[in-house]
Formats: sequence, C-alpha cells, structure tokens
Amino acid sequence: MNIVTVHSFKGGTGKSLLAVTLGYYLGQQGKKTLVIDGDYGAPCFGTFFPPTKEPTPFSSFLTGDARFSDVVTETPHSNLWVSYAPTPSFGQEILRADVKAHGKYLKRIMAGMKSAQDELGFDAVVIDNSSGISLQAINFLTCSDRSLMVIRPVRYGVETTYGLIDAIYRKLKYADPKGARRDFLVWNQVPDSSDATVSPRIDAYLDYWQNKFAEAGIAYGTAIPYISDVVASMISDNPLDVPKLTRYLQAHIERIAALVTE
Ligand SMILES: Nc1ncnc2c1ncn2[C@@H]1O[C@H](COP(=O)(O)OP(=O)(O)OP(=O)(O)O)[C@@H](O)[C@H]1O
Ligand SMILES: [Mg+2]
Repeated sequence: MNIVTVHSFKGGTGKSLLAVTLGYYLGQQGKKTLVIDGDYGAPCFGTFFPPTKEPTPFSSFLTGDARFSDVVTETPHSNLWVSYAPTPSFGQEILRADVKAHGKYLKRIMAGMKSAQDELGFDAVVIDNSSGISLQAINFLTCSDRSLMVIRPVRYGVETTYGLIDAIYRKLKYADPKGARRDFLVWNQVPDSSDATVSPRIDAYLDYWQNKFAEAGIAYGTAIPYISDVVASMISDNPLDVPKLTRYLQAHIERIAALVTE
C-alpha cells in the first residue's frame, strides 16, 4: 500500500484538487483508495463529497474516540473512500496541541495506516495536507512513503519552498532508514505564454529549479498548466464534479499515479 501526501509550503497551490483527482483516478484503476482531508485549517471534502450523514472525522480516530473503520466513508465513485477533517474549531484545537500530543497522534496515524492496509484492504492512501510546516502537516509527511510537493512557479513561492527542504526533508530521511520514500516536485498553474520571448524564459526558470530540487532529493514529477476550465468548474459545479476535474488533468494525473505507485 502506498501512502501519498500532497503537500505545499504555500497555500492555494492545488493540493486538494490533485489529492482528490489522484484518488479518484487510482479508484478507477481498480485500486481501493482512501483520500484523507488533512487540512484542519480549511477542510474541503464536504464540497467534493457531500456526506449523506454527519461523518465521524479522522481526528476522532487521532484522539482515540473512534476506530479507524468509523472515520472512513464510502463515496459514489468506485473504489474511492474518504475521511473528513473535523470542524474548524475542533481542528484548531488539534493544530494547537503540543509536541507530546502530536507524538501520540503520529503513532495513531501509523496504526491507522496499518489498519487501512491489513483490515480494510486499501491499496493506496492519499492525504490532502495542510500547507506549511505545522506539526500536524509534518506528521502526515512522516507517515507517508510518497509525497508530492506542489508548487506554483512564483519566485517567492519557489525560493521559500527550496529554503525549507533542508529542515523538513532531513527529518523525513531520518524517519526512513530503509530509504524507501520518494518525493516529487509538481509544478502547478504554469502559465503558457503566447509571447515567443517569454515562453523560453519560463522553461529556463522551471528547468533551473527542478534541477536544484532534484539535487536536494525531490525528483521532477510533472508540470501542469493553468487550466481555466478547472477554475470555472470549481466555481460553478456543486458538488464539485470530480470525474470532470480528473479529465481536465488526465495526462498529468496518469503520470503522477505511475510515479507514486511504482
Ligand atoms: N492547474 C490549474 N489550473 C487552474 N486553476 C487551478 C489549477 N490547479 C488549481 N487551481 C485552482 O487553484 C485554487 C486552489 O486549488 P486548491 O484548493 O486545490 O489548492 P490547495 O493547495 O488545496 O489550497 P489550500 O492551501 O488553501 O488548501 C482553486 O480555485 C483551483 O481551481
Ligand atoms: Mg486544500
């Protein structure tokens, strides 16, 4: 079972969109997949997967108030299950917990992943992480063996992300003595310029940084263009149309799925 955390240091890069469409795609491929809303600051799964009854959030499993199987909900899509985040006020309580509490939560997450594989028979887990480097976000990164670092090509976004690699990924490597984890860089919302003098400069910028990330152990994954149909669909569809969004991103999601499951 692969555990894929979709992460970014800055907000609004496309983590939720990629986590949900990747999960949907893996489900369509016949892999029993669980997607976890790990963003306790701004949960979004109610909009992608309106629950038919009040779901028990993943955090109830973290705090020991529910079993793992209670925080997993079936969706109308084949082989796709989701786990919801708590309400923002309870989510804030978890986010504010101290290092000791987060140490316990990490153990619970690890035990949950074992149940996902051994008891519930999942083939893949995808985690939509919160942005930044909260203890909660680091816990999800730590429990996964794959990660996607989603970056919009904006100077300050790329440079701050690169600056944080050392601090975070050194810890992750420490937690992975077998060297099994794989981390990938995904450019998202890349502009395509019709100006012939601009496009080569964008390409050169992306090349420069993806080489630097590769040297730091984060392999190049894919570069997803800015797709205005995606934005339009996320404004006008209610609930959000996951199959349609996946089609817009098809080639990229296929490539990402191949990378994270190999
Ligand atoms: N390739 C793309 N083309 C156009 N718009 C995109 C693309 N990817 C994401 N978006 C848009 O960017 C916005 C943010 O996407 P999303 O919510 O998935 O990001 P996020 O990283 O989860 O944000 P947050 O950090 O707030 O959780 C959405 O409006 C989405 O439609
Ligand atoms: Mg999000």
